[in-house]
Amino acid sequence: MITPGGPARGTKIVAMGHYQPAKVLTNEDLTRIVDTTDEWITSRVGIKERRVAENETVADMATAAAGKALANAGLTPYDIDQVIVATCSSIDRCPNVACRVANNLGITAPAAFDLNTGCSGFEYALATADHAIRAGAARRALVIGAEKLTDVTDYTDRTSCILFGDAAGAAVVEAVADDEEPGVGPVLWGSDPSKGSVLTIEGRRGYIKQDGPTVFRWTQTELPKLIAETCRRAGVEPSELGGFVAHQANLRIIEPLAKKLGATNAVVARDIVESGNTSAASVPLALSKLIERGELTSGVPVLLFGFGGGLTYAGQVVRCP
Ligand code: UT7
Repeated sequence: MITPGGPARGTKIVAMGHYQPAKVLTNEDLTRIVDTTDEWITSRVGIKERRVAENETVADMATAAAGKALANAGLTPYDIDQVIVATCSSIDRCPNVACRVANNLGITAPAAFDLNTGCSGFEYALATADHAIRAGAARRALVIGAEKLTDVTDYTDRTSCILFGDAAGAAVVEAVADDEEPGVGPVLWGSDPSKGSVLTIEGRRGYIKQDGPTVFRWTQTELPKLIAETCRRAGVEPSELGGFVAHQANLRIIEPLAKKLGATNAVVARDIVESGNTSAASVPLALSKLIERGELTSGVPVLLFGFGGGLTYAGQVVRCP
């Protein structure tokens, strides 16, 4: 039972939802735009296709994902008092995306704000909601990652345009009951701002520019330590994880990482194959799909970990709703 307005001993994810636009952009399609091949993209990154929003905005996709999360939770807009949208690609900045989502769904008077930490945005937003609810500053939150990266993709740059897609994923987060264990573990969050120049979106309608090999090398040295520490803070051994949902940047990062850490019993999210890199949407999108397909058992510990522009990183172990 929730204590309205009072502090809570912890939070949990009640339900997830996701949305992807209908238009598919395959590797074959990209060979007609830039000098690339299906073989190169598949072997170097693992992507086969990604989705492209045509007339839909970041707010439209965020609204659709959040609406599904609410329906999956069996809740209504009246049950929500906080909306956080993680995004780095929204062209529309005022009103912020969170207010647009709240208005679209008919959520009245929520605390509503956007948060931009690039590809780690969902995990930062989840931690922020968790902290707000535990402090008694919110009761039940919609935490959303939504991106229209194709708006900020340079389709003359073959090193980046093959990577990105559009999507949204959302979670409903609420206080646990007094006799329930918290379902959102302690966050590990941080950044290495000295490396900010290796992944940028700058200027009016600027494009994503990435020094891929440098970011890749950073993931190899840093991620194993950071994820091991995230598990340690949650009191969970990597071998006890039921799910491993890392930011979907490259299968050559994700799969060896899960193996190196010893996450041998975890279902490893590989949504990048069908969705590409969707930045802040990638983790909630992948998690929502694993749940929808029945690939994760309710209650199992699942690692969420995001990393990207900043360079920023954040993660936590959650109990699967
Ligand atoms: O989401 C935020 C966090 N981001 C990441 O974690 C991304 C980390 N980085 C990566 O995943 C990889 O660096 C990429 C997937 C971005 C690139 O893969 P890579 O194996 O590091 O390729 P590269 O940039 O070192 O390029 C290797 C070769 C180059 O040719 P030469 O110089 O060896 O002749 C590139 O010009 O591949 C060439 N190349 C391509 N060839 C065909 C680069 N892009 C393409 C392409 N098609 N699309």
